[in-house]
Amino acid sequence: MMKSIFFGVVALMFAVVVMQPEQVSVHAADPNSAPAGSEDWNYVHKNCSSKLHDQINMEFGASLFYLQYAAYFAQYKVNLPGFEKFFFNAASEEREHGIKLIDYALMRGLAPINDKFNLAADYALDNALLAEEGGSMALIALEKALAKEQQVTKSIRELIKICEGDLNDYHLVDYLTGEFLEEQHEGQRDLAGKIAMLKKMLVTNPHLGAYIFDKQNM
Ligand SMILES: *[C@@H]1O[C@H](CO)[C@@H](O)[C@H](O)[C@H]1NC(C)=O
Ligand SMILES: [Fe+2]
Repeated sequence: MMKSIFFGVVALMFAVVVMQPEQVSVHAADPNSAPAGSEDWNYVHKNCSSKLHDQINMEFGASLFYLQYAAYFAQYKVNLPGFEKFFFNAASEEREHGIKLIDYALMRGLAPINDKFNLAADYALDNALLAEEGGSMALIALEKALAKEQQVTKSIRELIKICEGDLNDYHLVDYLTGEFLEEQHEGQRDLAGKIAMLKKMLVTNPHLGAYIFDKQNM
């Protein structure tokens, strides 16, 4: 009698354990299956949402990237307030981009961020900034900013590519094209113009050139 109760209990526990994953898989939406007749109001293909989350990390990474230049130019030994202001603004703008994309993800019923989200995501310290005297750091910073913006633009275009076509997420694509790419193109043009001008001004007297450029162009 005890024996059969024991086996009964064991069989019951076994059934609970075996059925658990099945119940989970019935309730959790398969992120890669098409939503035909699905009850999921928030369907976004996994490939698209995953890249969106990467983009969020990249925006916050870009914000930190610019923050390090802002802090550099703010130092009393460097003291270029125009560059300082420009890079603090750039850092704020990137932070806003990150928040805008988090808001978008939330509107679509997605998680706001992924498990790769952390302050260091897509951020690399520019070791040149640790040197006592930066020398031609003004020009280097602008060139690195333009390279960073090109990298961000490329990533947004990849995100667009993934979410359009078969995945049919034109709402996200439209938002990215209208709001984000517009700003990318304007920003890149602005940086390219600044770089061309500063290069000319650095030819004869680098210190005076950087000083005047900081006052007039930043
Ligand atoms: C999603 O991404 C995977 C991995 O890159 C790829 O093999 C698959 O074809 C993609 N699915 C769709 C529908 O684009
Ligand atoms: Fe951005």
